[in-house]
Amino acid sequence: MSQTRGSAVAEMNHTGAGSAAQTLAQRLADQTAVVGVIGLGYVGLPAAHALHRGGLRVIGFDIDPAKIEALDRGEQYLEHLGQSLVDDLSGSDRFSATTDMGRLGEADAILVCVPTPLGPHREPDLSYVEGAGRAVGRSLRRGQLVVLESTTYPGTTRGEFLGAILEGAGERAHDLTPGRDFFLAFSPEREDPGNAIHTTRTIPKVVGGLDETSTQLAASLYAIGVETVCAVASAEVAEAAKLLENIFRAVNIALVNEMKVVLSEMGVDVWEVIRAASTKPFGFMPFYPGPGLGGHCIPIDPFYLTWKAKEVGRPTRFIELAGEVNTAMPEYVVHKTALALNERGRAVRGSRVLVLGLAYKPDIDDTRESPSFELIQRLRDLGAEVDYADPHVPRALPVRKHDLGMTAVEPTPEALASYDCVLIATAHKAFDYAAIAEHARLVVDTRDAMRPWADALGDRLVRA
Ligand SMILES: NC(=O)c1ccc[n+]([C@@H]2O[C@H](COP(=O)([O-])OP(=O)(O)OC[C@H]3O[C@@H](n4cnc5c(N)ncnc54)[C@H](O)[C@@H]3O)[C@@H](O)[C@H]2O)c1
Repeated sequence: MSQTRGSAVAEMNHTGAGSAAQTLAQRLADQTAVVGVIGLGYVGLPAAHALHRGGLRVIGFDIDPAKIEALDRGEQYLEHLGQSLVDDLSGSDRFSATTDMGRLGEADAILVCVPTPLGPHREPDLSYVEGAGRAVGRSLRRGQLVVLESTTYPGTTRGEFLGAILEGAGERAHDLTPGRDFFLAFSPEREDPGNAIHTTRTIPKVVGGLDETSTQLAASLYAIGVETVCAVASAEVAEAAKLLENIFRAVNIALVNEMKVVLSEMGVDVWEVIRAASTKPFGFMPFYPGPGLGGHCIPIDPFYLTWKAKEVGRPTRFIELAGEVNTAMPEYVVHKTALALNERGRAVRGSRVLVLGLAYKPDIDDTRESPSFELIQRLRDLGAEVDYADPHVPRALPVRKHDLGMTAVEPTPEALASYDCVLIATAHKAFDYAAIAEHARLVVDTRDAMRPWADALGDRLVRA
């Protein structure tokens, strides 16, 4: 399944692929190919960096001028990627960034890394994918390879995305045939923001084309930037593989969340249980409970499949049940917080609560779909006075469902002591947990962050 540089050239010659494919294969082999990356966010920017590092000339495209200007100035806008990534790109004469989609014709290969959010009724919103597809179509020329990276349901690349490209190409479409004149593939992204062990270069890349030639060309492209490329049978297999990976996580997180609720009633510590089960050297993989799902992937992607499943008339009960369990977690945490305050003779109304962590996971600044927003909103709805602290998120910018209009407070010892309750939603390393243990009147811990201080806290600690 893995691919090495130059092997596409041999493959193209062997299979008698057309001249457009052979020319592109040669450009990839001798590294004269130019890559365009549409969407310079969490996925597109590291992808651009990996291929640039492999030696290719890269043009970054984004409709957000602020990102292009930041790159021109050599300033980072995604904290977890680090300044050196931006320095590598901004300081290079092989990289440029632009909002001018008209320049897409300069690229031999184009990666599309735009958002795939949900609409107001939890339906897939492919408007960004289709918008990017039309832009690609308007500059489409013979010999180009286009790879969609945005997470989506099986059939999107061959259906909506190709449709948008051909729509953009308009009149010229009839003389540009996919698989002969231009090439189309899907390759899911497996970015894990903040993961210090696995990088874009070392995470294997799955690639599936609309046809064999497209698969080969896309595999050759990625082999320049990543260590292992796994070519699969079709774009649909690649699309579905990404959804399986994320649904696997969503379902397993739901399982431990349910275990947490049940075991808590029995007075059994779920974290100890997970540690104990993890000693099994085969057939078990630990997942951890929390206040709810966050991020651009796990809370969203399963709904891409459940929506599409309706088309084939098959239920997705398992996936939807996982969604239900995970979605109920913020309410469970708020309920536990209310009970803990009640124990101390306090109503939620009028209580001062400090939520620690607004980002959805530790040590990054990404707040998309973060359950902290839901926690804050629910506590406010009950009449609590809520603040948050997060060293990575100084201001709570609007997210899909919430616009809290808050700025972070400093969790100083005095501040910690002044709240009725400190609720740990995200366990950033930067928090001073010893100070929390010493000064907080009550700690509701959704992340097991306070275990080392459990004795010191005594009944001031509530796990939720
Ligand atoms: N964030 C992750 O960790 C992650 C991991 C795996 C997969 N994904 C998937 O990758 C895709 C991109 O996610 P992301 O997190 O990088 O999103 P993002 O919001 O960080 O970045 C997307 C970028 O695309 C730009 N954009 C939107 N429409 C455009 C257009 N028509 N032309 C040019 N630029 C356009 C936006 O301005 C933005 O900068 C999504 O499908 C997501 O599900 C994300």
